[in-house]
Order: sequence, then structure tokens, then C-alpha cells
Amino acid sequence: MSHVQATPTMLAPNVIDWEEIRRDFPLLTQQIYGKPLAYLDNAATTQKPNTVIESIAHYYRVDNANVHRGVYALSERATQAYEGVRDTVKVFLQASHREEIIFVRGTTEAINLVAQSFARPLLKPGDNILISDMEHHSNIVPWQIVCEQTGAELKICPINDSGEIILDQYRALLNKNTKLVALTHISNALGTINPVREMIALAHKQGIPVLLDGAQAAPHIAVNVQHLDCDFYTFSSHKIFGPTGVGVLYGRQSLLESMPPYQSGGDMISRVRYEKTEYNALPYKFEAGTPNIAGVIGLGSALDYISSIGLGHIAHHEHELLDYTTQALLSIKGLRIVGTAKHKASIISFVLDTAHAHDISSILDREGVAIRAGHHCAMPVMERFNVAATARASLAFYNNKTDIDQLIKGIEEVKAIFG
Ligand code: ALA
Repeated sequence: MSHVQATPTMLAPNVIDWEEIRRDFPLLTQQIYGKPLAYLDNAATTQKPNTVIESIAHYYRVDNANVHRGVYALSERATQAYEGVRDTVKVFLQASHREEIIFVRGTTEAINLVAQSFARPLLKPGDNILISDMEHHSNIVPWQIVCEQTGAELKICPINDSGEIILDQYRALLNKNTKLVALTHISNALGTINPVREMIALAHKQGIPVLLDGAQAAPHIAVNVQHLDCDFYTFSSHKIFGPTGVGVLYGRQSLLESMPPYQSGGDMISRVRYEKTEYNALPYKFEAGTPNIAGVIGLGSALDYISSIGLGHIAHHEHELLDYTTQALLSIKGLRIVGTAKHKASIISFVLDTAHAHDISSILDREGVAIRAGHHCAMPVMERFNVAATARASLAFYNNKTDIDQLIKGIEEVKAIFG
């Protein structure tokens, strides 16, 4: 492999120095308005460890060439690094075959690919696609468009007041006309961890394939696509400590084989003639044009990095931080948490009875605390909970109790201003 190997902090089993790990992220050491940065917008994007930054710089300094094309050392090194990451992702997702791993621009592109290449040729009037009432716009709009194109219907599975799927209603919505279920694994707005294995089994009983939007799950919990038995799984590099502009679509091989290309051009062909073009084999059939080589290499480095810590350790540590944050927030009078599911990942949306979410965020910013405020690209979720917007703190393993204490102190400032 030509790219820089990940060399994160060495860890004794079960004894993890999280402060040492935090120091692997150079951006986190800065001050904002003279206050230490407390970066709590990890659901929007994550910060990058040195190994990721170095692997991308190393590629451009030493190995830059196009992949799959040149018969010369540089191109072979670039190809080896790029294809090596496909093997890394295969192991990361526990997929059966490396051909099931497609590199795309991100979760959004992955879902659009499935909507247009899998669903569109299949759908006809009377059919339906089933999603839930807690989806990100990326897992709503591509299905709306494909339904408009085909005359199929988009059905929405309701959620309860805690932000959990109502399983009886889900079961009742599955029928012979349902051609796909598309679900978020973890909600970006509420933090709910959905019972996806059970939901997939219920869909499969009726022969319905399932796509999981794993953008918020892959950075926080171990994903095994064979154990889940999902048909498609998607995640984005930038939310998992890698660079922007790259992501992954996992697809069951038999389904990917049956699907037409999403985009066309170079690399996705095996033979081009004016009469007829023959498409390349998987995974290349879905990777038209020069890919984001540096991005894929950076993603590989990010996956090496978090795998060296272990997602089991990460999930456990983040859960402790989530509990600490939830307790601290609940002690603030006039604050309400939106999304109180029994199974949650480290995303906490909240509203204050006296201040708008954007005001909360602006005041917190002056205190060095970065959170997101707004609809979180999930307007139907806001509607479901009857709020215009929420403030959202989303944690990663490099956050600590000092960050949370800074958040709480900042909210007290907001209350002091708004009453
Ligand atoms: N999907 C990202 C978020 O939830 C942008 O903030």
C-alpha cells in the first residue's frame, strides 16, 4: 500500500486514553472568540485525525495518478491504494464481496443511485416505497422524484412521541405493492437507533428489499450488513472522520448485477461501439469517470483509525457522554429534549421555551460551542414534533465532559439573556 498507514494512539485492551485520542485531531486545539472550541456538530460533519490529513497529502505529494488506466508505477500505486480501501470498507461493513462496495459522492448520491437504477425500472402505478417519518431529506426527496416518474406512491411509517417507529403500523404498511423500504439506521434529528434488523426481517418475509441510510450510524456503532441482512447500506466519509465528497453504497451483489448503470462515461464500460456499449463488471459499472481518489484514500485512513480504537469502545464511551449530556440538559428549567427514544445514539435535539434555536446557537458560538440549529434537513420531523427548529448537540468520541459543561454554561448564558 502506498498511502500513509494509520498510526493512531496505541491502546491497551479496554484501557483507552480518550484525551490522547482527542489530541490526534489538530482542529480541536483552537480557540473561538478566546474560548476553547467545544465542537458539538458531529452529525453535520466530523473533524479529521492527523492520519487522514497526512494520507491525503501523501497521495498528492507522492502517488498522484489516475486509477485503473496507466501501466506505470504511479498509476499502479494509486490503483492499489484506491482498491485497497474497497477491501477496508468490505471488512468494515462485513460485506461478503468487495464488488458490493461502490464509491460514490456520499449518502445522498448513494440513495439517488438506488432510486434511479434499482427502483425506477421496477416501479409502476399502484406500487409503493415505504419510508419513515424520521428521515433526512436525502432519504425522502429521491423517492418522491422516482414516485413522480413512475406513478408509484410514497408511504410514511409514523413514529411515536418519543421518536420511535411504531412497529405495528410498520407491519401493517408492508404489502405486496411495496417494492422497497428505505429507512434511517440512526435519526440525524432525534438520535433514535431504529430496530432495523427486526424491520428488515419483517420486510423480507414479504420479499421486500430494504435500504438503510447509515450516515449517522456507521460512525457510532458497528455495522454488519450480513447480520442485518440489508439489501443496500449507505454512509458518508465526512461524517466518519474522513474527507468530504466521498461515500459508500453497499449493495447485495445479485441486486447490483441486475441494475443498469446510474451514470455513464469512462471506466464503467468494457467495450464501446456505436452500435452497442457493454458495461463493465461490478463495482466499476457504477463508478463512471475519474473517482475521488484522494477522498477514497482518506476514507480508508479514517476507517483504519476508528477500527484501531474499536466501534465497541466508541459506542460505549459515547453512550456515557450521551447520558452525562442528557442529565445535564434535563436539569435546565424550560429546556425540552426532542427525541427521547429508549435506544439513542449521541445526538440530542432540544428547544428552550424562551429562545429560538438560532439564538441559542449564536450565543453558544460566542462561548466557543459549535452546535447546529434549524430543521436539520428533516423538516417533516420538525412538523411531527410541532417545532420550527431545534438546537442540536451531536457528540463524537473525541468530545469530553468539559465540552458538555461548556455547552451547559452557554445555555445558562442564553437563559440569562432571554429570561
Ligand atoms: N445531515 C447533516 C446533519 O444532520 C448535514 O447535520
